[in-house]
Amino acid sequence: MDVLIACRQLSKDYESGAGVVRALREIDLEIRQGEFVAIVGTSGSGKSTLMNILGCLDRPTRGAYELAGFDIGTRSSDARAILRNRLIGFIFQGFNLLPRTTALENVELPLVYRGVSARERRNQALEALAAVGLAGRVHHTPNQLSGGQQQRVAIARALVTGPPMLLADEPTGNLDTRTSLEVLALLQRLNRERGITIVLVTHEHDIAACASRVVTFRDGRIVSDVREKSVDAAAELEKLPPPEPSVVADGASGSDPAAEQRRRLGGPIPRALYAMTALGGVLGLGLGVAYCRAVLEVSSTPIPIAFAFVLEAIFAVRYAQKSMGRPLTSDQRVRVSLGYTLGVGLLLAPLTALGWMPWSKPVLDLLAGLSGSRLALALGALVLALATVTLARYLVLALVAPLVAPAGGGKKRPA
Ligand SMILES: Nc1ncnc2c1ncn2[C@@H]1O[C@H](COP(=O)(O)OP(=O)(O)OP(=O)(O)O)[C@@H](O)[C@H]1O
Ligand SMILES: [Mg+2]
Repeated sequence: MDVLIACRQLSKDYESGAGVVRALREIDLEIRQGEFVAIVGTSGSGKSTLMNILGCLDRPTRGAYELAGFDIGTRSSDARAILRNRLIGFIFQGFNLLPRTTALENVELPLVYRGVSARERRNQALEALAAVGLAGRVHHTPNQLSGGQQQRVAIARALVTGPPMLLADEPTGNLDTRTSLEVLALLQRLNRERGITIVLVTHEHDIAACASRVVTFRDGRIVSDVREKSVDAAAELEKLPPPEPSVVADGASGSDPAAEQRRRLGGPIPRALYAMTALGGVLGLGLGVAYCRAVLEVSSTPIPIAFAFVLEAIFAVRYAQKSMGRPLTSDQRVRVSLGYTLGVGLLLAPLTALGWMPWSKPVLDLLAGLSGSRLALALGALVLALATVTLARYLVLALVAPLVAPAGGGKKRPA
C-alpha cells in the first residue's frame, strides 16, 4: 500500500496572550492508503490541530507534512486549496450543512466549486446520496432530517468529489449510540468497498474500536499507536435492542412515500362530521339572520351565508379534532368542502323541484323557459356555482382551522 500521509517531526505552536501553546510536538505519523485510523486523546491533546494540518486547512510550525507525495508545508495557500479539493472530504461534528437547502443541493455544492455542469452535478450528487442510503430524501432540507441522516448527507457531500481520503473530527459527537454505529457502519463500508482512507477523531471507545488502527494523543504527542482487529459496526448494530417505536414512526413518515401519502391524506372523513357541519351551518344561518335584523336592521342574504360558512367550519374542525385526535389535513379539508357542498346541493335540488323552497318558483320558472344551448349554459353556471361555493368553504376552513385547532395540539400521540 502507498503512503498517503507522512508527518515528520511535525510541530504546531499557537501564540496566545499567555505565551506559546505547543499543540503538537514532533509528531511522526504515517498513514497508508486504505487505512481506517482513529485518533483519540483527552481534550486539548492536539487532535483537531492535527486534523486541520492533515486537511491542509493549516500549516505546521515546524516539521514536514506530505500528502500523497506533495510537500504541503512549502505550498502556497492556493495550491493547498487545490490539493484539499482533490484529495480530501471533510466530515464535521456539527454536520455543517446549509439550512433551508435540500440534501441534493448541499451535496452538489463541492461540485459547483469545481465547475461541473449542472446535469453532471445532479447525477453525481444523487449517486453519492444513494451510496449513503438517502436516495429517498434528496429533497429534504436539514431540519426535515434526523441527526444521523444529516451526518449521512454530510458524508455524501464529502464523497461526491471522489476523494481518496475522508477526515472526520468527532463525526458522531452529536449522535446517540445507535445512530453513531450506523454512521460508523457506513464509513466502514466505504473504507472496505471503495478503499477510501479514513482518519477519524473520537472521544468514544466504542467508536475507536471500529477503526483498524488507534493512535492516542497526550499533550501534543503520540503516546500509543496500535493496530488491531476492528469491531464490525454493522454487527454491533444488530446486537442493540430494537429502536423505540416512536423513533421508527418518525423515521418512517419521511422515508416511505406510501406512509407520507397516507399521512397527507389523513384517512376517511366520518359521516358524523358532515352532520356536525350541517348543524353549524343551520346555527350560523340563524345567527346571521338574527344579527342582520337586530344589530344591522337590514335584510341581507350574504351576511347569514357568511355566518353559516364560518360556523360550519368551526363545527367541522372542532369535531375532527375531537373524533380523530388531530387537525384536518389539507386533503381532508378539500374533501370536506367538496363533499359537503355536493351533499347540500343534492339535498336542495329535489326540495327545490317540489316547490318547497322559497326560491323554488323563480328557479322552476327559469328552467321552464330554457331549452337547447341555454340549458347547457345554465348547467355550466350551476357547476361553476358549486365550484365557487366549494372553494369558499375550503378557504374558510383553511382560515378557521389553525385558529380553532392549532396543528401542534393534536400531533402528539400517546406512546
Ligand atoms: N487557534 C488557537 N489558538 C491558540 N491555541 C489553540 C488554538 N487552537 C487550539 N489551541 C490549543 O491547542 C491545544 C490543542 O487543541 P486541539 O483543539 O487540537 O485539542 P483537541 O485534542 O482537538 O481537543 P478536544 O478533544 O477538546 O477537541 C489546546 O491546548 C488548545 O487550547
Ligand atoms: Mg477537537
